[in-house]
Amino acid sequence: MAKYVINGKNRLEGAVTISGAKNAAVAILPAALLVSGKCRVENVPDISDVHILLEILKDIGAEVSWEDNGTVILDCTGVTGTKPDPELVCKMRASYYLMGALLSRFHKAHVALPGGCNFASRPIDQHIKGFRALGARVVETEEYVNMKPGPNGLKGARITLDVVSVGATMNIIMAACLLPGKTVIENAAKEPHIVDLANFLNTMGAHISGAGTDTVKITGVEKLTGGTYAIIPDQIEAGTYIAAVAAAGGNVLVQNVIPKHMDCITSKLEEMGVEFINYDDAIQVISEGQLQPTTVKTRPYPGFPTDMQAQVCVCMSIADGTSRLTESVYETRFFGYCTELASMGADILINGKTAIITGQSNLQGAVVRANDLRAGAALIIAGLAAEGTTEVENIHYIERGYEHLVEKLTALGADIRRVED
Ligand code: EPU
Repeated sequence: MAKYVINGKNRLEGAVTISGAKNAAVAILPAALLVSGKCRVENVPDISDVHILLEILKDIGAEVSWEDNGTVILDCTGVTGTKPDPELVCKMRASYYLMGALLSRFHKAHVALPGGCNFASRPIDQHIKGFRALGARVVETEEYVNMKPGPNGLKGARITLDVVSVGATMNIIMAACLLPGKTVIENAAKEPHIVDLANFLNTMGAHISGAGTDTVKITGVEKLTGGTYAIIPDQIEAGTYIAAVAAAGGNVLVQNVIPKHMDCITSKLEEMGVEFINYDDAIQVISEGQLQPTTVKTRPYPGFPTDMQAQVCVCMSIADGTSRLTESVYETRFFGYCTELASMGADILINGKTAIITGQSNLQGAVVRANDLRAGAALIIAGLAAEGTTEVENIHYIERGYEHLVEKLTALGADIRRVED
């Protein structure tokens, strides 16, 4: 088991380059299953979730190769398998995208239920509702989802999601791509990675419009052919480095970002006293003085992302006063890290969906445990801001989503090491 050992209180200075977006990559790579031909996907992050997905795709017959600089060449033309290896599928959340992609291309799929970060109950009923509306006969057990065409065959349909779901929106987009007729998804999620998936598929020949709004329309096509596509920068990785600078203090140029995607995060940190200068594809982050308290409520995009809840909580823990942080996407997400932060001296009172955080002048280093990806990222930020030494255990969660984390932080002047226990 490996851990990160961090000696805190170093200012962060210099520049960091943000990698390709994890939550776009984990959708776009399985979406290559829809393509008959070679896909060249650039800006793919080198993280364990991506490696597991590529293993799954190889195992069902895809040809996969990595080039330098984060480019993956994928050819799924010869794929024949519709039952991806359940052991691999269970290792990650986004393996649910195999359902939509296989259903669209082969009209059948047998996919184990996904694993990954379990910080909350994470149902996939909206995905299944979409597949059924498209005409699939779906059998769900406690272990897998099995799909084949229902009595009227598979075809486009109108689907109104009961909850705004990123995963369901993307899965239904994939499922509808190669089906005859028109599909309309109402109450769709609007996250940047949904637009990225649609742009990837359209580059390969799909007909998708409205991605990024709450109505997405897909007109089925017979075939997608290959092409080249570059994944967008990771909004949450960028937000994590911004929160690290905010908490530890410093002056850092965060490069390879889409500043518009960052507004929902930077506007809140600005209220806390952090200064930002936006360039075309970079943001300068300056955090010199004492952070101020604020109020944050997580919401689907363009609201403040739930995936930044834990990182902003660390900033609030050292602000000069009391902050309120309300979670409206995953109610139980606080439990993944608040006890760990409390062991470092944070004062957090959880009342249902809201955490009341009374800022402390200092956090103290401690031995803490990452219980999920973003919780782990928050504990690293806390370690960077704390006095003394912090050890973050259980880091396999963090390595699911952050490329070259130690190298990037070290280049900014942080004292962080990865140690094999
Ligand atoms: N929901 C349902 N039924 C469904 C699907 C979702 O009730 O069928 C509910 C969920 O319980 C939740 C809300 O809808 O309350 C939103 O869930 P969503 O489906 O949007 O989440 P997801 O697609 O499973 C993705 C990201 C998460 C991120 C959420 C919200 C991936 C692989 N995961 O999950 O990212 O927190 O959207 O933005 O894209 C992370 O990167 O650390 C991470 C957890």
